[in-house]
Amino acid sequence: MPVPPIPRRVYIETYGCQMNVADSEVVGGILYREGFGFTDDISKADIILVNTCAIRENAEQRIRGRLGYFRTFKRTNPDVIIGILGCMAERLRSRFIEQEKMVDLVVGPDEYRKLPLLVDAVAGGERGIAVRLSRVENYDDIVPLRTDGISAWVSVMRGCDKFCTFCVVPFTRGRERSRTLNSIVGEVIALVQQGYKEVTLLGQNVNSYRDGASEFADLLCAVAAVDPSLRVRFTTSHPKDMSERLIEAIATTPNVCKHIHLPVQSGSDRILSLMNRSYTVAEYCALVDRIRRAIPGVSLSTDIISGFPTESSADHAMTLGLMNEMQYDGAFTFKYSPRENTRAWEMGDDVPEELKGERVSEITGLQHTISLARNGVHVGSTVTVLIDGPSKKSPEAYTGRTDTNKNVVFPRAGGRPGDYVRVAVERTTSATLLGAEVERLSAGRPADERGPA
Ligand code: SAH
Ligand code: SF4
Ligand code: F3S
Repeated sequence: MPVPPIPRRVYIETYGCQMNVADSEVVGGILYREGFGFTDDISKADIILVNTCAIRENAEQRIRGRLGYFRTFKRTNPDVIIGILGCMAERLRSRFIEQEKMVDLVVGPDEYRKLPLLVDAVAGGERGIAVRLSRVENYDDIVPLRTDGISAWVSVMRGCDKFCTFCVVPFTRGRERSRTLNSIVGEVIALVQQGYKEVTLLGQNVNSYRDGASEFADLLCAVAAVDPSLRVRFTTSHPKDMSERLIEAIATTPNVCKHIHLPVQSGSDRILSLMNRSYTVAEYCALVDRIRRAIPGVSLSTDIISGFPTESSADHAMTLGLMNEMQYDGAFTFKYSPRENTRAWEMGDDVPEELKGERVSEITGLQHTISLARNGVHVGSTVTVLIDGPSKKSPEAYTGRTDTNKNVVFPRAGGRPGDYVRVAVERTTSATLLGAEVERLSAGRPADERGPA
């Protein structure tokens, strides 16, 4: 009797945005189909894959550090295959193999179907590289290999056509393309049957989704209609593509979560124009006004870049002013990092690192105060929470999120992960609501309360 081959074990480490997390699950699906096995223990892996991010220089530095560590496994097992996937693979292409000799395998975001063949090629002594971008690849037919059983990422479109002048994504992920509405709905139906309670629809510009006559609002409604107890989230929305129909769909569909991540990047019109963001501060504010009027209690978060070329202290002050006006629930702030090939690369990098740092801490300090105040409003009220699992900081407590994407931590009581519970909020930090479970809702009840506006 022939002995079946031992499945080669793959270890995957993922960096970057949620699109990368979803892509690693696609990679898992592709390899699983071909009989590969998986391990969380890197020392037992035959194939080490790292799905990378190129958005800022420090993201790449971190990954380079990890690659050095991965190479140490070659000493004990010379046959181990090290592969780099994702945006940094796409950006640096053959440089990794030819100049730096860091890895055996380089595969860009649109070439994952070739992975099984490339792994074989590498095992046969060749170097494997595939970095072509595609106008059509969307992995529509691949069943992602997921691990978590409560919340699933569902990638609905790929690429980006916006070409913000600071951003590498249009170069690493290529042109925008959407999956079909039917295949996405089919995937969500399967997820509900498997017991998932929440899906997050993903795209770099999720709200520019289009399938024939259907736009993102139609997709959102179709996904929400699969099961009224399923929570539906989406990210990231571009202000330019936030249509009235979409705002209406979020407002009127109870199980579409009332949280919008709406990156503004800067509070200065001059900088926004240099960034090619295609809106002015006034247009952005008017949009937020329409959103807040249509969706009472909606929570809003944003991304801000500090130290974009030529950013003056007056521009920075305008960003702080805008934050005061917007009262965001959360904000991610980044120091501007020049990326080769982007238009901003040509503009130089004239804001000193130290000044960028000072501006970032002013922004995060202000946001801390605003978040604390926004969260404080919930003290004394009850919120509906979907329990995610044990809290990292205190394993005897559970953590979950409200419909508005606030983290909630509370001691374990009747509810279990995947349940909706009501939690009385007793105190808050800028990042978390803390309280006690007061009621376990019947399974399948969606979060419908949004807290005070
Ligand atoms: N597609 C999304 C997010 C893209 S990346 C969007 O358009 O909103 C996430 C965030 O990284 C961006 O919103 C931006 O704030 C930040 N970012 C992108 N490129 C950057 C760069 N070169 N330097 C610093 N931050 C950057
Ligand atoms: Fe990058 Fe702009 Fe596209 Fe977002 S919209 S991925 S910031 S180019
Ligand atoms: Fe990074 Fe690529 Fe996502 S550059 S942020 S992993 S799209």
